[in-house]
Amino acid sequence: MTSKNLFNEIKVGSTLLANRIVMAPLTRNRAGDGNVPTTLNTEYYKQRATAGLIITEASQISPQGVGYPGTPGIHSEGQIKGWKDVTDAVHKKGGKIFLQLWHVGRISHPSLQPKGGSPVSASAIKPDGECMTYEGPKPFETPRALEIGEIAGIVKQYVQAAENSIEAGFDGVEIHAANGYLLDQFLRDGTNVREDQYGGSLENRMRFLTEVAEAVTGAVGAAKTGIRLSPENTFNDIKDSKPQVTFNTVAKMLSSFNLAYLHVVEGDFMTGESTLDYRQFKEYFGGLYMGNAGYDLERAGKSIEGGGADLISFGSLYIANPDLVERFKQNAPLNEPDQETFYGGDAKGYTDYPSL
Ligand code: PHB
Repeated sequence: MTSKNLFNEIKVGSTLLANRIVMAPLTRNRAGDGNVPTTLNTEYYKQRATAGLIITEASQISPQGVGYPGTPGIHSEGQIKGWKDVTDAVHKKGGKIFLQLWHVGRISHPSLQPKGGSPVSASAIKPDGECMTYEGPKPFETPRALEIGEIAGIVKQYVQAAENSIEAGFDGVEIHAANGYLLDQFLRDGTNVREDQYGGSLENRMRFLTEVAEAVTGAVGAAKTGIRLSPENTFNDIKDSKPQVTFNTVAKMLSSFNLAYLHVVEGDFMTGESTLDYRQFKEYFGGLYMGNAGYDLERAGKSIEGGGADLISFGSLYIANPDLVERFKQNAPLNEPDQETFYGGDAKGYTDYPSL
């Protein structure tokens, strides 16, 4: 038997992947009216179907979960139908695809919210910065702390969205608990100063994620459920006073669910720095570990071969290289991603990157 490498197949929960190269979730703001995936979105994912696994762009579980223009949802009939075209196209090419379940929490604006309401969070703490709205960037406003009685309803929305994903033909779902969005706002002590059973101690701060993990795995199966964390990312103005301890404990809590994988953003989007010991998260979790952020072919190969990760996800490289697996196999030159066309727009910078 040859040693483990990027191009070996791997069984992830109940899904057999052709290789360990994963397309990371990437917000592209090109959904259609009603936040419904379009034929253009289908073409984009289909072009990238040789990835071992595609994780879709973050997709809101409810109208309240929205924080940007043109991001797709997974809560309406039209959205389920739009996604069905995407999963059919990816499966026809032999690919596998998970949907990323998203609620942005406070990273939103009343103009994006149902009835113009306040965005919600663990606590009424305003993020620094601006929200991208349909009328351009606007300063964030102070969110409303969720009432304790509202939390069970949001857990149900995660479950419904996971069930909708399976109905839409996805191989599984990834619970987005990273990057300063709602579940992360509960986990970290900089954004959660609640005094009820969802705040205060680390055990309490983990309660919402624990309930979501329990409910989603109960509904669609742990073998079809992954989770994403970002222990030291300060993106979206979030922080924790003891990130190594916090996320070691989160990883340990998650280990009890037999999840398909744990997906970890290693480092800080804002500074590019990575200072924590990510091996500890992997060890506390115990299951399949997917590393992300700043990997190239060489580092990814070394990480898989050295046991630092079981899978590696690639973000910007996948924006620009639909045939990234083939390019890696041949060690071929890569297309450069164009930052100007990352968010919003049309086919330009989306489906027009050339394959070899
Ligand atoms: C973004 O819109 O920039 C974005 C969305 C979801 C993430 C990270 C970044 O997890």
